[in-house]
Amino acid sequence: MMPDMTTSAAVIVDAAAYAQAVEDAVGAAAAYYAGGTSPLDDDAYDLLVRGIATWEAEHPDQVLPGSPTGKVAGGAVEGDVPHTVPMLSLDNVFSPEEFTAWTASLARRIGREVTQFSVGPKLDGLAIAARYRGGRLTQLVTRGDGTAGEDVSHAIGTIEGLPETLAEPATVEVRGEVLMTTAQFEHANEVRTAHGGGPFANPRNAAAGTLRAKERAYTVPMTFFGYGLLPVSDTEPALAERLTTSAHSDLMHLATELGVHTSGRTAVPDVVAHDPEAVLARVKEIAATRAELPFGIDGIVIKADLAADQQAAGSGSRAPRWAIAYKLPVLPQNQS
Ligand code: IVH
Repeated sequence: MMPDMTTSAAVIVDAAAYAQAVEDAVGAAAAYYAGGTSPLDDDAYDLLVRGIATWEAEHPDQVLPGSPTGKVAGGAVEGDVPHTVPMLSLDNVFSPEEFTAWTASLARRIGREVTQFSVGPKLDGLAIAARYRGGRLTQLVTRGDGTAGEDVSHAIGTIEGLPETLAEPATVEVRGEVLMTTAQFEHANEVRTAHGGGPFANPRNAAAGTLRAKERAYTVPMTFFGYGLLPVSDTEPALAERLTTSAHSDLMHLATELGVHTSGRTAVPDVVAHDPEAVLARVKEIAATRAELPFGIDGIVIKADLAADQQAAGSGSRAPRWAIAYKLPVLPQNQS
């Protein structure tokens, strides 16, 4: 089913529908973390959990203990780390026509044509926020519900491309995707089966399980790809100014200079394109290389590159209006 790009949450009408929604979401998450195939894709899962969160906000005394929002009766969040700025999702397009319509709506919204886009791979992993203080990696937080995530700092040191020390003593948050390359996935399954565990179904499930696993007898490496760099409350003012006014493409150069891995050194680096035709040509090129890439992608992310365009477009509660995911077909058995 084509996701409804205008809907930000599933609508839950009563307590029975709420209980069913919680059961569906918990079942989908359990299947996902067990390494099987989830009955819900990412977007459907997000919509369901947002619907659950909306209902819980209106009925704080009826929150079920196992709710995937991590809330407890009364609305408090249990054990979660609040995000500095919400970690949003992306809206999707599936065809050149839908992409062109998106560029037109973006131009209408900001009152001018966008003439600088950044186009890069949509990495098929898990979003993570990496907090650096004075250049040292201090905390890793999963996306969670977008407002607060789980502390997975125990994974520091196991994620290639996410250095424990930056090249400069910067206080910043790096956001990006953690995944397993094909080689890392094969290695992880060898190690896991040697320890008596069942193999993971695909690299994404392997990365999800590995990221959250706290007391495993073994560690297996994963890979990070940065796609965002943002200031935190005590970022040095000149750096904060630079981070909020730079083009996405410049931020990715800065991330590389700091020692963070991005798509820049892969076969499908983010590139700047100046009109929708050039974007679509790049989409085709990336899609054509997909099968040969040593990591999974499930689409192409297109962003308005300039900070001024991003700020003029703003964000909705679910996704920024200045970026879109051009989705590629799901590969058989999700072996992307
Ligand atoms: S930019 C949403 N760039 O896709 C704020 N996201 O399905 C801007 N993703 O939650 C995100 N590759 O975790 C961006 N090159 C890329 C990405 C990317 C994968 C993830 C991200 C997001 C999800 C939405």
